[in-house]
Amino acid sequence: MPWFADDGTPTSGDDVREVDVADAEPIAEGMDAPDIYGFWAACRRDDPVLTIEGFGRDMWLLTRFADVDNVLRDAETYSSRINADTMGPVMGTVILAMDGDEHRRHRNLVARAFRPSALARWEDELIGPTIHRLIDGIVGRGRSDLVADVTSRFPVQVIAGVLGVPTDDYALFQVWGLEISMGPENYDVSTAASRAMRDYLTPIVEHRKLHPGDDLVSDIVTAEIDGERLDDEHIYGFLRLLLPAGAETTFRALGNCLLALLRRPEVLARVRDDHNLLDAVIEETLRWETSVTMVNRETACPVEVAGVSVPAGASVVCATGSANHDETRYDNAEEWDLDRPAVAHLAFGTGRHQCLGMHLARMELRVGLAAILDRLPGLHLDPAAGRVTVEGLAFRSPPRLPVVFDA
Ligand code: HEM
Repeated sequence: MPWFADDGTPTSGDDVREVDVADAEPIAEGMDAPDIYGFWAACRRDDPVLTIEGFGRDMWLLTRFADVDNVLRDAETYSSRINADTMGPVMGTVILAMDGDEHRRHRNLVARAFRPSALARWEDELIGPTIHRLIDGIVGRGRSDLVADVTSRFPVQVIAGVLGVPTDDYALFQVWGLEISMGPENYDVSTAASRAMRDYLTPIVEHRKLHPGDDLVSDIVTAEIDGERLDDEHIYGFLRLLLPAGAETTFRALGNCLLALLRRPEVLARVRDDHNLLDAVIEETLRWETSVTMVNRETACPVEVAGVSVPAGASVVCATGSANHDETRYDNAEEWDLDRPAVAHLAFGTGRHQCLGMHLARMELRVGLAAILDRLPGLHLDPAAGRVTVEGLAFRSPPRLPVVFDA
């Protein structure tokens, strides 16, 4: 989850600010603008540990797979505390900003909530019904902006459902999700939304404390560390994190998957006929255009990365999006290729903080794509709507997906 503050670390904005991209070469026909992947390719080639100054705090941007992978696996040298600076004021105490034993104990507790039996139940009771309800709203129209009508609503409603929120209140979560995701860019709005969400969840949490059931909130409120239950600060910290961590990331990933298919009608037809290909669509899209392109760390001691000295306390930005295009690991890395041999990517990070919700995300993407392909025959990009591109820096996805289909 990349939120980076104005003190120098990148935020979820759409530009690359003062970073000089002038040297970046266009590397693929039809590459989307701004060409952040071109910039990263130039970094990997010429300056894989790029020092970026002038934000009040210097940053080191890592762009090669091996360096990013090493940093994310070495949680002793590279601390996640830096996430507390940016997320703390909005989110409270979150595992994304914990290190060492504290992180291990809290993660083990909350990981239980994502056990396979919970996932299987969510698929049938929540994820399927949610996507079908959204498609019901457009199926007779013959046209839609799939971002406005479906993708931007789907994962947020899944998270609301996981939290035990009634369907009628999903709209509230839609708004809070957007507002909390503003993070440090608009503290007033994001902290107000975070408070409102906590107030809303309070009766649900208090009820589950007294009457725990077989659901995620019950798992969290009854979790114990050394015989003691989590305090409210940690309970709400975790529950609130699920919205920005699970909704924005996944809705953008779904948009990227859809765009990859919509740009390739022959592949879309193949996948429509053979849903066994959906896993390959999802993994290749996560590699090609991950919705979350950067992960932040802070050095716990002076280090050397690929021959470059980095002082203690430095902000290290791991460009997972760039690592996923590293030409030493992937042939024709800029191409989306459904038949590419499976090679692991870093879209969900790696090491101790690897995404806790990745199996849920993959399930949402699979169920969501299958439903869209099955229920919207003749689906294709609206030729009258102009070129559709992937946009963004820390978070990337198409802002719109205008499509037409057989009503
Ligand atoms: C395609 C969708 C998703 C992407 C690309 C994604 C990406 C990531 C990444 C890169 C990290 C590692 C951050 C770090 O190392 O600092 C992470 C952590 C995390 N993600 Fe996801 N995520 C996605 C979906 C989800 C979902 C659906 C949930 C839950 C509902 C979720 C919950 C979390 C949590 C709780 C962490 C923190 C884990 C820890 O600190 O130990 N994510 N995610």
